[in-house]
Amino acid sequence: MAQQEVLTSHPFNNVTENIFSKIGANLHRRQNHPICIIKEAIYDFFNSQRPGTYAKFDELHPVVSAAANFDEMLVPAGHVSRSPNDTYYIDADTVLRCHTSAHQAATLRQGHPAFLITGDVYRRDSIDQSHYPVFHQMEGLRVLEPDEYGGDPAAGAAAAERELKELLEGLAQHLFGSGTECRWVDAYFPFTTPSFELEIFFNGQWLEVLGCGVVEQQILDKNGFEGRRAWAFGLGLERLAMVLFQIPDIRLFWAEDQRFLKQFRAGDLRTAFKPYSKYPACFKDVSFWLPETGFTENNLCEVVRGAAGDLVEAVELIDAFTHPKTGRTSNCFRISYRSMERSLNDEEINAIQAQVREELTAKLGAELR
Ligand code: PHE
Repeated sequence: MAQQEVLTSHPFNNVTENIFSKIGANLHRRQNHPICIIKEAIYDFFNSQRPGTYAKFDELHPVVSAAANFDEMLVPAGHVSRSPNDTYYIDADTVLRCHTSAHQAATLRQGHPAFLITGDVYRRDSIDQSHYPVFHQMEGLRVLEPDEYGGDPAAGAAAAERELKELLEGLAQHLFGSGTECRWVDAYFPFTTPSFELEIFFNGQWLEVLGCGVVEQQILDKNGFEGRRAWAFGLGLERLAMVLFQIPDIRLFWAEDQRFLKQFRAGDLRTAFKPYSKYPACFKDVSFWLPETGFTENNLCEVVRGAAGDLVEAVELIDAFTHPKTGRTSNCFRISYRSMERSLNDEEINAIQAQVREELTAKLGAELR
């Protein structure tokens, strides 16, 4: 059997052909691609801070065990991120990594006290200009030497937190220029305590760009760094690149369009993307009674992605009501179609919309109205 069939035919499998086809695209390793330019800029920053310290990995395969993705990172049983509504499962024990943290424990076990891991990560999600089911993250981690903080564990945790925040604020200045406004927000991750998110002020709003914190002691203890202290972060490369290069739609990263690709050059962080003419959007509404067996927007989005590929720009719930007598609920979603590369014609959009409607019934059990 072809590898592709193996990966998409298991009864637990919720990886669509569309998603499967993204594996191996490796935008983060294409020279002159904005995702790769950001990666290199972050490498440069960390090298300048501690030359030769960080081991770098950017070829780790995105198919990982559920144990690596969740259990080793102390994600509790029943946590939402484990649900097949949020994560792509190849079978019950194997997933498309939903974060680069999936490699933390194994990299520690290999004996690396400091590393940067870059890769594509996969999440089932809603559809809009800043959400795409595949994106790129960089994981960073450093285990401190006991003599850096005098050996006292509490002092070690404080030192790790201090270094982490200083580094990431420095990184923000390095990428966006001095004077960039940043703020720290308390957060929760099962694998760090305390945990934080860093937000950057951009285009009139605060954008979350990374999660981080002091590594849970158990993770260090179990993976070869007993009693040590460490910090870790995971940052979203698309988010950073959208801010840095003023890229308005996340689908552009996947465009094989020279008008996009030609605008970026390795090493140049100061390119401002010049949008080429935007083609008109086409809106289609679809209304249906939700199936009794349950319905999620992520499932609808997967169907739309499957039918439309990158021609879908957004899927938005515009109306919902529950029938007073029958108690049934109806939703109306507006699907926006737009190509980044050309004008769409009515016929192709009608055909896509017909497929969406058909699969809503056949795959999701909805009743069209
Ligand atoms: N894995 C987290 C995420 O994807 C980010 C993170 C990494 C947070 C490392 C803390 C430490 O959201």
